[in-house]
Amino acid sequence: MKNFLSVENVQSIRALVDKALDYKKNRLLDNHLGTGKTLGMLFFNPSLRTRVSTQVAARNLGMEVIVLNVEKEGWQLELDEGIVMDGSSTEHIKEAAAVLGQYFDILAVRTFPTLKDKTEDYSERIIGQFLKHAGVPVVSLESATLHPLQSLADLVTIKETFQEKRRPKVVMTWAPHVKPLPQSVPNSFAEWMNGWDEADFLITHPEGYELETKYTHNAKIEYNQDKALEGADYIYVKNWSSVTEYGKIINRDASWMITSRKIAMTNNSRVMHCLPVRRNVVIADEVLDGPNSIVIQQAGNRVWATQAVLAEILQNN
Ligand code: CP
Repeated sequence: MKNFLSVENVQSIRALVDKALDYKKNRLLDNHLGTGKTLGMLFFNPSLRTRVSTQVAARNLGMEVIVLNVEKEGWQLELDEGIVMDGSSTEHIKEAAAVLGQYFDILAVRTFPTLKDKTEDYSERIIGQFLKHAGVPVVSLESATLHPLQSLADLVTIKETFQEKRRPKVVMTWAPHVKPLPQSVPNSFAEWMNGWDEADFLITHPEGYELETKYTHNAKIEYNQDKALEGADYIYVKNWSSVTEYGKIINRDASWMITSRKIAMTNNSRVMHCLPVRRNVVIADEVLDGPNSIVIQQAGNRVWATQAVLAEILQNN
């Protein structure tokens, strides 16, 4: 693995999940792999889990880590080519990426979508510029369209919690939210579930919330949430804004919130969410505080998933 921007960079999902679980058993298994290497983490947007779990993962491998909050601490970056830079931008992303590539062995970047311009967001211009100009491996800490470190941790969580000798039924459900949110987590989860092929995967959302088929492939879509939840072993809960009416909230139906009544329709389903989650909007207190929720274990697994990815890159570059 040279870069980690999507599931397409992964040779074997099964092997990467197993590697993450090996690190969970022994966090210092490869604690000299990153000795003398430095990870640069660039944040264009806020983060709690990704920011901390990636630092812990890198340190478990013996790496040094430097975090830069680009929006607050860096110069305002210009993205357009051939522009006369007489406006508010001070530095072109070409120089910034190339310079940062001189300082770090791996560069990790978080950059959210605008949710205003789909063509711009789905072109992944910011992370693409780092890929082009940094000259070192680039890791996505969540980009405009995908969140692969989250998805890997999600698969690790399903793998370690499902003990039965059959394929689990995993249902990804849209849930309401007060703000328009990116499609990166559901795009990514769909893409990884399709590539994993160790579970039966179903997506449920109100009409108008269809994701790009580039990520969902042939995943079945059921518009009736109650019907979709029947027999589910896992409910993966997430809000996202509309793709067709790009970045808009087109449904606020509170009946899509995950409550204990919804859990009763399932096969005593475990409940997952990438966090942060709005309580009693997306998932009810009774579920988040109850025995079916595995959201904390899921967030904990972010460390092992990231450690597996960083180790793969260190071993292959
Ligand atoms: N799930 C996730 O990426 O959380 P943060 O935004 O807090 O990093």
